[in-house]
Amino acid sequence: MNGQYVYLSGVEFAVWFKKQGSKVFNARCKNVVFKYPNGTSKLHPTEKNHKLLRELILDNTNEGDMVFDPCMGSGSHLLVAAENGRNGKGVELNEHYFGIAKERLSPYTCSNIGSIIDRIRRIKDEQQSTGNAQTC
Ligand SMILES: C[S@@+](CC[C@H](N)C(=O)[O-])C[C@H]1O[C@@H](n2cnc3c(N)ncnc32)[C@H](O)[C@@H]1O
Repeated sequence: MNGQYVYLSGVEFAVWFKKQGSKVFNARCKNVVFKYPNGTSKLHPTEKNHKLLRELILDNTNEGDMVFDPCMGSGSHLLVAAENGRNGKGVELNEHYFGIAKERLSPYTCSNIGSIIDRIRRIKDEQQSTGNAQTC
């Protein structure tokens, strides 16, 4: 934190994308500014307030819709999505946070997630042992 030298930002931008053609917006004439205190969870340093996530998800999806978080950290967006009857998919680079997300989402996840992870590990191991590691 640089709070001793400069003002601290109290503003954060949210970016989300919708599938082409989706017209879901359950928040007619709502202001673009949302005011919530920071999240207090210690599971991920940037975890957002779940009430904020709930508001955004309910405004922009209907029950059964898919929420995709490409940088899911500890999985909070997907957790809130699942708690509110939405489906979710996520990606996380950091194995530690991926493990936390997996644990938190376990009541909602499909049973084959472990086998997908094992398959990715096997492919990575094979690539390393044959020297065929690919970069993208
Ligand atoms: C701002 S945090 C997300 C926090 C999360 N939304 C939560 O509430 O817990 C961004 C996350 O993206 C992950 N990340 C960064 N680059 C990534 C990439 N290329 N693919 C997947 N995850 C990535 C980081 O490891 C980090 O956990």
